[in-house]
Amino acid sequence: MRSHYCGEVNESLIDQEVTVCGWAHRRRDHGGVIFIDLRDREGLLQVVYDPDIEDVFATAESVRNEFVLRVRGKVRHRPEGTKNDNLKTGQVEILGLDLEILSHADTPPFQIDDSDVSEEHRLKYRYVDLRRPEMLKRLQLRSKISNLFRRYLEEDGFLDIETPMLTKATPEGARDYLVPSRTHEGSFFALPQSPQIFKQLLMMSGMDRYYQIVRCFRDEDLRADRQPEFTQLDIETSFLDEETLMTMMENMMRHVFKEGIGVELPNPFPRMTHEEAMLRYGSDKPDLRIALELVDLKDVMAAVDFKVFSGPAKDPKGRVAALRLPKGCELSRKEIDNYTDFVAIYGAKGLAYIKVNDLSQGKEGCQSPILKFLPDEVVTAILERTGAETGDLIFFGADKATVVNEALGALRVKLAEDRGLIADEWQPMWVVDFPMFEEDEANKRWTALHHPFTAPQTDSIAELEANPGTTLSRAYDMVLNGTELGGGSIRIHSPEVQKSVFKLLGISDEEAEDKFGFLLDALKFGCPPHGGIAFGLDRLIMLMTGAHSIRDVMAFPKTQSASCLLTQAPSPVSANQLRDLHIKLRQPVKVEADS
Ligand code: AMO
Ligand code: AMP
Repeated sequence: MRSHYCGEVNESLIDQEVTVCGWAHRRRDHGGVIFIDLRDREGLLQVVYDPDIEDVFATAESVRNEFVLRVRGKVRHRPEGTKNDNLKTGQVEILGLDLEILSHADTPPFQIDDSDVSEEHRLKYRYVDLRRPEMLKRLQLRSKISNLFRRYLEEDGFLDIETPMLTKATPEGARDYLVPSRTHEGSFFALPQSPQIFKQLLMMSGMDRYYQIVRCFRDEDLRADRQPEFTQLDIETSFLDEETLMTMMENMMRHVFKEGIGVELPNPFPRMTHEEAMLRYGSDKPDLRIALELVDLKDVMAAVDFKVFSGPAKDPKGRVAALRLPKGCELSRKEIDNYTDFVAIYGAKGLAYIKVNDLSQGKEGCQSPILKFLPDEVVTAILERTGAETGDLIFFGADKATVVNEALGALRVKLAEDRGLIADEWQPMWVVDFPMFEEDEANKRWTALHHPFTAPQTDSIAELEANPGTTLSRAYDMVLNGTELGGGSIRIHSPEVQKSVFKLLGISDEEAEDKFGFLLDALKFGCPPHGGIAFGLDRLIMLMTGAHSIRDVMAFPKTQSASCLLTQAPSPVSANQLRDLHIKLRQPVKVEADS
């Protein structure tokens, strides 16, 4: 139907006839001449209709926004003064010789170039929203990046192997999406939270190198970088250690960034232990574009006469830390109050601070409601350790280490965003040496920090069982600009170690047999040492395109409450379908108001 995409028509085609198809982006009548900006995937093209060709002109007059048109015309230079350097096709226009209306359009729910449309509206009319050039560009880049990964991995000997969607639960820490079985009453499939167990089984089958660009499903609380279904670039390899695998993954990322968006990532990526990341950034996914760092003060605070600080300082699980904000003296009382409210979201009970009005005067030059509690030498230590300068403000967090890390870690990012302290650069890194387990204090048990198939750094089961709290794992996370892009590990390949980890996680032998019996069996029939990683493809594209939410890099995402505004899914189904699935709905129950 066409000879060129609209966006491809340029000066090389002057005086030639072209046929283009697309949407009427805008129609303007100008003193007897009609201009139609025709839009397709590749860009906008100006078409001019002259009243000389009467019937075509009449058709052009009837065109409205978003009509779908087929245009035949002759390419010519735009007159001087009307050229548009911001447009790929801005040097040319086509003189319309023919015009066919392929489809009429009602007034669109919003204008394509209106940037102020609510997300609800955009999601409901997603097919219109996706016509916007920025959305198109993001999906084009997404396609390009997926392809680059595929080609790179294929060349490196990886096999693309599909794994089931109707399967059994894989523990990645979220709730499962379940699918009721019609043929097995009362039984359910789980949609995979990841292909984790299957990719390990593929290693036991001898596939050696596996990859898949695969959908994963997790019923969890959604955020800007989380969707109930999302896409992983999933990878597993045999007979490699973490060093080799991490290097391979780095090389792949460098290649894809270079080819995909022309960005040179550093070589090698810096590495940091989990412990150091928490100490310096309060986060296991530090944003290294931000220079602010947490500074530990636990040792100097134990003796102060201020329980808010001395309490956590004396508590083995406590932490007292400071965060210096350069030029923070500029902050108003109101702004500081707002930051206090902000850290409260993370459980902080307050946000003490000191303004350093004049460093040369030491404590005398400082201003704070808590100064009276702090002896001179403590103030000196604070100023020295934080590297404070005149005009700075120092925030404090004192509580359980987990609370301080979360609160000051988030405050660090928030301050940097609010005050323009995020450098314009790419900062990938690895976080390594994660603990195997973390304590679930409420339920008095261990939970896996990664997943239960991650190998410990020790081969000794006795050592592992004696020190679950301090044993490190062979897991690694790739972090980019403060976002966890991917995570993986070397896996357990011995049935005994796997059983021991299940035991530590409070999974009984029976439950282990029931849930993972097939894996425990497989481990007994010849299992190579293996390990892998999975990257969040949506998150990667979000970062590459500068989008603020992964919804903006997915064609048909769900809302924050996990529904699809376009199709109205999830939705009720017929009584017959429910009967087939052996599901009886409760009668609508009256919800009692909270007392
Ligand atoms: P993990 O659970 O860390 O590891 O997931 C890997 C990566 O997937 C992305 N991701 C998400 N992206 C969007 N929405 C979500 N709800 C979501 N959840 C996770 C993140 C994350 O780093 N099987 C292991 C990998 C392995 O061990 O090989 C796994 O799934 O970018
Ligand atoms: P208070 O004695 O409770 O009035 O607190 C004095 C100062 O310490 C106030 O600025 C509080 O915001 C701050 N503060 C209280 N609890 C904490 C805490 N756990 N961590 C940091 N600052 C705190």
